[in-house]
Amino acid sequence: MAEFISSRKSLCKESLCLRCFFLIVLLPNCFACNQEDHSSLLSFLEQNHPSTPLNWTSMNCCRWEGISCDENNRVKSLWLPRKGLSGTISTSLTNLYHLTHLNLSHNHLSDSLPAAFFKSLRQLQVLDLSYNSLHGNVLEQLQPSDYSLPDTIQTLDLSSNYFNGSIDPSLFHQAFNLMFLNVSTNSFSGQIPTSICQNASLLKVLDFSLNDFNVQLSHGLATCSNLEIFRAGSNSLSGLIPYDIFSLKSLKEISLPSNQLSGSINHINLLHLSNLTIFELQFNNLSGELPNDIGYLSNLENLVFHTNNFTGPLPLSLMKCTNVKVILLRNNKLEGDISALDFSKLQKLESIDLGYNNFTGNFPVSLCLCRSLTAVRFAYNNLQGELPDCISGIQALEHMSLSNNFLVNATGALRVLMACKNLTVIFMSRTFRNETLPDDQSMGDIDGFQNLEILTLGGGKFSGEVPNWISKLKKLKVLNLSFNNVSGPVPTWLGGLSDLVVINFTDNNLSGQIPRELGNITALRADNDSTDFGYLALPFLFTAGEYNRLFNLPRGLKLGGNNLSGNIPVEIGRLKQLQMLDLNDNNLSGSIPELSNLVNLEELKLSDNHLTGEIPASLSRLSFLSSFSVANNDLEGEIPRGGQLETFNASSFEGNTKLCGYILHKICALAAQHTEDNAAEEEGTNSAWIEHPLWIGHIVGVVMVCITLVLHTSWRNAYFGFLDCMLDKVIKTSSIPQNDKIVQQQYVSSISIY
Ligand SMILES: *[C@@H]1O[C@H](CO)[C@@H](O)[C@H](O)[C@H]1NC(C)=O
Ligand SMILES: *[C@@H]1O[C@H](CO)[C@@H](O)[C@H](O)[C@H]1NC(C)=O
Ligand SMILES: *[C@@H]1O[C@H](CO)[C@@H](O)[C@H](O)[C@H]1NC(C)=O
Ligand SMILES: *[C@@H]1O[C@H](CO)[C@@H](O)[C@H](O)[C@H]1NC(C)=O
Ligand SMILES: *[C@@H]1O[C@H](CO)[C@@H](O)[C@H](O)[C@H]1NC(C)=O
Ligand SMILES: *[C@@H]1O[C@H](CO)[C@@H](O)[C@H](O)[C@H]1NC(C)=O
Ligand SMILES: *[C@@H]1O[C@H](CO)[C@@H](O)[C@H](O)[C@H]1NC(C)=O
Ligand SMILES: *[C@@H]1O[C@H](CO)[C@@H](O)[C@H](O)[C@H]1NC(C)=O
Ligand SMILES: *[C@@H]1O[C@H](CO)[C@@H](O)[C@H](O)[C@H]1NC(C)=O
Ligand SMILES: *[C@@H]1O[C@H](CO)[C@@H](O)[C@H](O)[C@H]1NC(C)=O
Ligand SMILES: *[C@@H]1O[C@H](CO)[C@@H](O)[C@H](O)[C@H]1NC(C)=O
Ligand SMILES: *[C@@H]1O[C@H](CO)[C@@H](O)[C@H](O)[C@H]1NC(C)=O
Repeated sequence: MAEFISSRKSLCKESLCLRCFFLIVLLPNCFACNQEDHSSLLSFLEQNHPSTPLNWTSMNCCRWEGISCDENNRVKSLWLPRKGLSGTISTSLTNLYHLTHLNLSHNHLSDSLPAAFFKSLRQLQVLDLSYNSLHGNVLEQLQPSDYSLPDTIQTLDLSSNYFNGSIDPSLFHQAFNLMFLNVSTNSFSGQIPTSICQNASLLKVLDFSLNDFNVQLSHGLATCSNLEIFRAGSNSLSGLIPYDIFSLKSLKEISLPSNQLSGSINHINLLHLSNLTIFELQFNNLSGELPNDIGYLSNLENLVFHTNNFTGPLPLSLMKCTNVKVILLRNNKLEGDISALDFSKLQKLESIDLGYNNFTGNFPVSLCLCRSLTAVRFAYNNLQGELPDCISGIQALEHMSLSNNFLVNATGALRVLMACKNLTVIFMSRTFRNETLPDDQSMGDIDGFQNLEILTLGGGKFSGEVPNWISKLKKLKVLNLSFNNVSGPVPTWLGGLSDLVVINFTDNNLSGQIPRELGNITALRADNDSTDFGYLALPFLFTAGEYNRLFNLPRGLKLGGNNLSGNIPVEIGRLKQLQMLDLNDNNLSGSIPELSNLVNLEELKLSDNHLTGEIPASLSRLSFLSSFSVANNDLEGEIPRGGQLETFNASSFEGNTKLCGYILHKICALAAQHTEDNAAEEEGTNSAWIEHPLWIGHIVGVVMVCITLVLHTSWRNAYFGFLDCMLDKVIKTSSIPQNDKIVQQQYVSSISIY
């Protein structure tokens, strides 16, 4: 040893020594990475180059970002999610035989998997290829001899790609260790492999949702004794739900929405499902009564059975599900007296939607004891009687929907609800009949409703005047008193409700003039150049349909079908955000004011009045206008040429004897021609506009949509969200109903916002 050191020392005298020393120390690291793996990785990088460069420059590939090696310096993990990888997955990847963990999720990888992908990577434990654009039939990879996944596989996530073809159960013959399988959001078809657990008996999660599986679910899942989550929603599954699913004691979630499942689930045995928290069967054709045993689901949180064909009463045992938070049963044929039920043990209940059924009886008093309740919908049933006083105790209440029932005493109802300080939404259209609108005296000192954004009391044949207490609801966005017998004036104080975007007084007996003050409503005003249109968003509701309807609820001033007289105030022309202006069927006179600032207008109804003068040429500039009528007035002159006005037919203009123009097949006299020339002069040199009116109009329209989308973030999200949804539908060519899951999640989260 000493000799060795001394000889070393002598060597060290030469400067070579230092270099040797470092070589010896660093050698294992310098060349730690297996050279084959090294070059495989580099060809992978070259073919699937990431959008942000990876730092793969040093000698030792085991130290590279996203790489780790085993003790033999073979690459065992390639972990590159969200790196902007694109192109066809490089075949060089299949040379990394020692890979156990591969995560390429959230990239832009396309085409099919490299040939022999599963044949080569026989040590894979975790494979995550989710959120890419991969397609083809995964099984085409596998030759009959190796027609299965490696026996090491534990997690397989192929979700959110375009994979297609069927999933052959033999794929899982050796998958003894598989615990997690997610193939959701692809185009797989055929049969769901319910025999999968004969070999893969450790499976905990199976997600087949959002595919095109179209063969009836078969028995077999009973062998999945460890299964916790089973999802197969948004497919084309028909027929019965195999009963053996309900024998799986470990189940926490069963989610089969948006299929064509049918038959009754009344007799299923739920005795073993004490761990079940999520039970979703919405949007199917299930029928029969709800299971009597539902009370055994002691951990149930979400019961979502809406939009089926269920009949009969709510099972009494439901009231034993003391952990339940969400009960959504709307759109069925359920019936029975709900006041007989005792909801008081459901202390965690947050939302209950029994809308669109045939329930009878009074509002259940026991519901008042559910202190977590934020949303109640009993709309479209046959409830009777008064709202109980105890509702004032549900202090968390934000959303109350009672439209289309047969309640009495609207004044009492509103006085009770006023005590719920967080209340944001009241739907009570067609809830009461022939009563008087609750007046100032009976409402007393309004200190409640300070968070109210939506109030609907339409279709109740209410009499009386628009009461002043409404003027104190400073956050009100939607006021609907349509189809009543409300008389007296349109109150001037409406102009002071700065958040109002919908005033719907259609079909009443309102008289007097349209107040100029309406032109002061801030949310609708022209001078609002803010780019944040979040203030227009309305509180979220229960259904996709209603969500869309409300979020996009057209901003409108609807005063049609009353006895209003006098001129249309010019101040209305300031309400730039208006999408609908209905003043039809009144006694309005004078000329049509300048409305060309109302660039968002889609509907303009001025028919059946006594309006005189000409149709302002500037109306042709309203490029979004799709519904228009000035019929049955005393208008005169030529119908302005160009723009959207030319897209309407004669019925929009008829009943004005002095009106002319080619739409009415009536040639105008010279005087009228002259006015048109003047108008053209005033407009400047826009002859192109007149020559190609529609074309320009559409371009302007499209540009406006784009500008709107760029500016208004919240709209943009909603709009593109909608587009995504549509695209999704187009891509998935099957008849998949809308993805209620997503909607549901949005709903649940927003309920906590409002
Ligand atoms: C890339 O690696 C070099 C040398 O190892 C280092 O200096 C640099 O900071 C790294 N860059 C990133 C973005 O990791
Ligand atoms: C893959 O990476 C993504 C992004 O970091 C991560 O969310 C996902 O859980 C990973 N997959 C697995 C199976 O761990
Ligand atoms: C499966 O993947 C989809 C998206 O690709 C995801 O939304 C879903 O939550 C996953 N399922 C499970 C059970 O994790
Ligand atoms: C799968 O998709 C490919 C195109 O990516 C198509 O050619 C093939 O016919 C599809 N197979 C099935 C079974 O739908
Ligand atoms: C139910 O859940 C609990 C807690 O997660 C767990 O300990 C128990 O094993 C589960 N029961 C079954 C039958 O899986
Ligand atoms: C609901 O059930 C009735 C008979 O009870 C049947 O006529 C109807 O077609 C069913 N509707 C759906 C959507 O399955
Ligand atoms: C609702 O119930 C009433 C009486 O209970 C019955 O007459 C009516 O037909 C039912 N409506 C529906 C849609 O089932
Ligand atoms: C009312 O709403 C506020 C703000 O969202 C919240 O902090 C409060 O807890 C709510 N009140 C009740 C009783 O839930
Ligand atoms: C309506 O309800 C209020 C408050 O509950 C009550 O004072 C009043 O007497 C009721 N009116 C009628 C006509 O029943
Ligand atoms: C309401 O009044 C109308 C017309 O007077 C009448 O036909 C109807 O029966 C009344 N409805 C109720 C519930 O009183
Ligand atoms: C306004 O009221 C009319 C009549 O009730 C109705 O048809 C329309 O849908 C309502 N519009 C809005 C935006 O509430
Ligand atoms: C409201 O409108 C009226 C008439 O248009 C106007 O005189 C008044 O100054 C406005 N009030 C406010 C607060 O803007």
